[in-house]
Amino acid sequence: MTVAHSLNSIGSMLIKLWREKTSVRRDDWFKLVCESYEHPPVFHKGVELPGFPPDSIQINTTGKAGVGTLMEAFVFYQDCQETFAALGKPLSEVDKLLDFGVGWGRIARFFLSEMPLENIFGVDVMAEFVDICKKTFRSDNFYVTSPFPPTALPNGVFDYVVGYSVFSHLSEKACHEWMSEFHRITEPGALIALTTRGRPFFDYCESLKDKGFGGYRDALSIMFSDFDEARARYDRGEFVHSNANGVTGGGAMTSDFYGETFIPEQYAREAYAEMFFLERFLFDSSRQSHPIMFFRRR
Ligand SMILES: C[S@@+](CC[C@H](N)C(=O)[O-])C[C@H]1O[C@@H](n2cnc3c(N)ncnc32)[C@H](O)[C@@H]1O
Repeated sequence: MTVAHSLNSIGSMLIKLWREKTSVRRDDWFKLVCESYEHPPVFHKGVELPGFPPDSIQINTTGKAGVGTLMEAFVFYQDCQETFAALGKPLSEVDKLLDFGVGWGRIARFFLSEMPLENIFGVDVMAEFVDICKKTFRSDNFYVTSPFPPTALPNGVFDYVVGYSVFSHLSEKACHEWMSEFHRITEPGALIALTTRGRPFFDYCESLKDKGFGGYRDALSIMFSDFDEARARYDRGEFVHSNANGVTGGGAMTSDFYGETFIPEQYAREAYAEMFFLERFLFDSSRQSHPIMFFRRR
């Protein structure tokens, strides 16, 4: 067994113990956030939990609405919470967190379990989403950004950056520039959690070929002219991205920076090594739809 494997299994054991110790409280937290969707207003530590945009916006951005979409977000939050603790930096109320590509705040709201509203920030390219967050969170900590940095955020202020389903879309250049920006705005030792497309997504997209679903699913099925070649590049540790017709997001999401992105573990470890150490590449496809790359800022 290699040192990396031993560290990984010690990490998994710590996470299992943490999950057993805390599952009741965190199930309650999930129920409370669901309650804020089903029967608002709901309060936590005296603060009203954020509201929601109409179901149509939730579905357009995440494919689901209500409890279904919250469950996916909760699994990510839980993986972050547990892994941050296992890496020796548990979430705390004095820390500051940036949700990169915050959308309508699906992910950010879960961190209110540990952190006060004033320490949670978000950026997004879509002004409409930033407006939704400002209104539903009743906070001015949400900002519109250009597709490429810099942001106006100050140097060295954040302890955590999370980004769900954003590095699963950005081009290699955009990812690299955003990693440099995260390096600038975080303090040494900060933890970064970013999801990307996993290897099984190649197979899923290929399986859609000639099924005639139309729209996005058809576009996914032909985004690579040769899926075997794309998988081989991934297996060699290369960054794999497609900006073929139909897989760019539309609107503000243009093909010069947006599409479908698969970042393999080896690439994540090597490409940003001067700025970040890859602590963990977490992917359990039985419960996660996206692998998570956990980095520590050098
Ligand atoms: C698939 S959505 C995920 C939203 C949110 N993270 C969630 O999980 O609910 C991707 C989000 O990233 C935003 N986005 C795309 N490109 C971006 C960029 N270059 N900088 C910041 N945000 C970006 C989009 O506007 C969108 O809100």
